[in-house]
Amino acid sequence: MINAKTKLCCLLGNPVEHSFSPMIHNTLAEHMNRNLAYTAFRVDENQLESAVAGAKALGILGMNITVPHKCNVIPYLVEIDPLAKSIGAVNTLVSTEGGYKGYNTDMIGLGRQLEEEGIVLKDNDVIILGAGGASRAITYLCASKGARIIWLLNRTKSTAQTLAHEVNEQFGQVVVPLTLEEFHEIPQGKYPVIQTSSVGLHPHTDEAPIMDPQFYQLVSQGVDIIFNPSNTRFMQLCQAAGAPAYNGLKMLLYQGVAAFELWNQVEVPKELTDQILLRLEKEIQ
Ligand code: ATR
Repeated sequence: MINAKTKLCCLLGNPVEHSFSPMIHNTLAEHMNRNLAYTAFRVDENQLESAVAGAKALGILGMNITVPHKCNVIPYLVEIDPLAKSIGAVNTLVSTEGGYKGYNTDMIGLGRQLEEEGIVLKDNDVIILGAGGASRAITYLCASKGARIIWLLNRTKSTAQTLAHEVNEQFGQVVVPLTLEEFHEIPQGKYPVIQTSSVGLHPHTDEAPIMDPQFYQLVSQGVDIIFNPSNTRFMQLCQAAGAPAYNGLKMLLYQGVAAFELWNQVEVPKELTDQILLRLEKEIQ
């Protein structure tokens, strides 16, 4: 029941109409007995600064930031989590003295998903496909968790090289940039593979960034950050090579759970997260 004591959290982005975040957060609030409501606001680029200032003036507890504002919102924050700063993108703002502090819970979300699937990054090698915005957060995550070698494969090698250079400056020589075709340079073995490119997204469901079945012999577990379709071509190719594969739905849910926990200083129980995951699975069918 919304009343005069209800706290508000919200999403800022453009567009926002198809977001699952209101469903995730309102369900969490209801089951965690929080007097909190969550809604979404479509905000134009030129209104972003006033939107953040206005939210603070209204006492909005926390916000999620989505495309296209994840980088542009940074100048309007009073503080930023160090890893989010390195990534250069935030998706969660938490109200603090005088303004908002920015975090990147996309990365926290993927970290949780990998942990749950039994994918250990520390001292292990990992393959990442794609070097765009999503890959930035994921490459930083793998480096910060102590991965030994990160094979970063991208269609455009120079983009992979730029990201590799940046991450290596902070974490030592961990990232090796390659083109997609250069997967032959990776030593024989089994590696977790995280697919971060936009290839395979609905409606291009027949596509994967690498189609050569030989590549998939390198896969121990495959994680695609795409969740629509729920079983991407990349995942099918992993499965055909005998490797389990997971879509990006958990990452989506866990970034939300991590934000909810930051705003409310609580820990969300796994049973509740599992319940919401089932609901999300039904919604995207
Ligand atoms: P996001 O923020 O979702 O990561 P992005 O920054 O536009 O989106 O990045 C898209 C990623 O998908 C990039 O790695 C891109 O490769 P390039 O750097 O070569 O552009 C990759 N990508 C997009 N279309 C592709 C295609 N048809 N084949 C291979 N890679 C593709």
